[in-house]
Amino acid sequence: MALLLEDTAPNFKAQTTAGEIDFYEFLGNGWGVLFSHPSDFTPVCTTELGRMSQLYEDFRKRGAKILAVSVDPVESHKEWIKDINETQHTNVSYPIIADPEKKVANLYGMIAPQWSDSHTVRSVFIISPDKKIKLTLTYPASTGRNFLEILRALDSIQLTAKYAVSTPADWKDGEDVIVGGSVKTEDIPAKFPKGHKIIKSYLRTTPQPNK
Ligand code: BEZ
Repeated sequence: MALLLEDTAPNFKAQTTAGEIDFYEFLGNGWGVLFSHPSDFTPVCTTELGRMSQLYEDFRKRGAKILAVSVDPVESHKEWIKDINETQHTNVSYPIIADPEKKVANLYGMIAPQWSDSHTVRSVFIISPDKKIKLTLTYPASTGRNFLEILRALDSIQLTAKYAVSTPADWKDGEDVIVGGSVKTEDIPAKFPKGHKIIKSYLRTTPQPNK
């Protein structure tokens, strides 16, 4: 059965390029981004894992650990990392899971059998410190993901976990946010003292509260 938002992210043990890990121990009390790619030594995947590596520090600053997964073996991952580093001008330092038996892939529903029953599609899961699934994305093998969008979504998820706000279309960190529907208009000044605008009774905005 597919994993849905707010489901508990299942724990697992797996071999990775950094040795055996227990997923929950790896995450500790922080956030996690688990993402799958179909195959080592393939072009789109090479750019994707390189891009994630370039953004490693941005995820780290947000308290998020990165973990990649594919069905290829550890030795293949280790060889391929050399190509990723060379061609994408980076130094991959996050672990890549080797999942030849597809344990993680099946646990997280990363296989789309109509496309391939032996390789994962491009899935992303953002997992909160309480091990709940906060975002899922699924892209086809032919479409590389936008990793800045994953960072942007993480910013929104972390912000909206702390404040009674939501974020509008194309929102970026630092821009105005939408006051949550549970906040009465008369309570806005006390909750959001930086000011607010009432565009419609159901559409009220305020400067980002933590900036
Ligand atoms: C790629 O990474 O380029 C790729 C991998 C599997 C299927 C299609 C494309």
